[in-house]
Amino acid sequence: MSHRLIERLATKYIPRLISELESKSISPFYRTMQSAVGSSVQLEDRQVMMFGSNNYLGLASEARVLHSANTGIHQFGSATTGSRLLNGSVQLHVDIEERLAQWYGTDGALVFTSGYTANVGAIGALLGRESTAVVDAYAHASIIDGVRQSGARLKWFEHNSVDSLRAAIAEVGDTSETMVIVDGLYSMEGSLSPLADIVSVTKGAGALLMVDEAHSLGIYGPNRRGWAEECGVLDEVDVLMGSLSKGLGSTGGFIAGNAELIAGLRGAARSLIFSTSATPASVAAANEAVRIVMGEEGKILAARVEESARTLTGLLVDKGVNVEGATGHWSPIIPIVIGDDDRTVEIWNEILRGGAYVGVALHPAVPRDRALLRVCISAAHSSDDLVKVAEVISNALVTTATR
Ligand SMILES: Cc1ncc(COP(=O)(O)O)c(C=O)c1O
Repeated sequence: MSHRLIERLATKYIPRLISELESKSISPFYRTMQSAVGSSVQLEDRQVMMFGSNNYLGLASEARVLHSANTGIHQFGSATTGSRLLNGSVQLHVDIEERLAQWYGTDGALVFTSGYTANVGAIGALLGRESTAVVDAYAHASIIDGVRQSGARLKWFEHNSVDSLRAAIAEVGDTSETMVIVDGLYSMEGSLSPLADIVSVTKGAGALLMVDEAHSLGIYGPNRRGWAEECGVLDEVDVLMGSLSKGLGSTGGFIAGNAELIAGLRGAARSLIFSTSATPASVAAANEAVRIVMGEEGKILAARVEESARTLTGLLVDKGVNVEGATGHWSPIIPIVIGDDDRTVEIWNEILRGGAYVGVALHPAVPRDRALLRVCISAAHSSDDLVKVAEVISNALVTTATR
């Protein structure tokens, strides 16, 4: 027997959208990958070039990363079967936290089961009902969910607008209970935060600063620690969040910061305490990936991502494709804003027919009328892949425009 609460799910916006697209066999969502990593993957019954994953450095299939995951499983089992607070902290967690703290030059780091739970746990613990979170309008959903868990007041500022941030902080008044939260690299739009100015406004007002480096870590900065390092303001970030699930080719998340922050979160982050800790395989894989990224090989991989991102952006622009922000700083996420949801889905399907998988973001992942294709670079791509995908994308745009 059904229940009103279950029936109501189907009337909600996103479930309705997904089932409508699935009924027409044009859905970009929940497609099944038969092989998931590398520059080419098998999506259901077809082989396609992969330009929609967050495997920026190609580490999700790197032999030493896989070997480390295997060793982790053999030594510690398939799961920890406990929370970090109790029996779920194994030596692998301690090892990676020491390595992350050494990399970031912080007193400590704390590893969560995902970047999502790192954000929710940290923000939920730091803020209370009396606090205010001042958040960029394009910030990731996990940041919003963390603020919701905390019960703090949520105050938006316009995406990447320092003036809007200044105005929002001024409206708060007393900033002793205020945290400003931004992403380094925005996951859907590929835009980069004006961090130097954000630091100066936030610190000038006496507020705390949290930066989500989920997508920028491993890619930017002389030591590949992310966008704050590239902007020369890493030391100004009070709460640094990173994901192990993107450039590092594993699954998990972390917070790096001073001893007081880490000690406090160990006791107060609900997502850390009330959930089983990250699996031995994930942590061991990530630990090896961090080792690679920290060293000379990491420098080569990041340089390759930069070169490929610049090349593909150039190829698309040359073909008349409207790449948003193409004249700004390079980004491994190349956004092609289409606007209308239906047309974006149509173009996405045409690109798939042409032999490439790209990401897609519809409302509410992006603002209404800003539906976009999200083309992601990986160090695993060859220059031939870049030329081919530019061709496939521009052909799809032309073919669908004349329908
Ligand atoms: C900006 C940002 N923060 C946090 C997360 C969550 O990270 P994870 O995938 O490790 O849960 C994501 C994931 O998409 C993200 O894009």
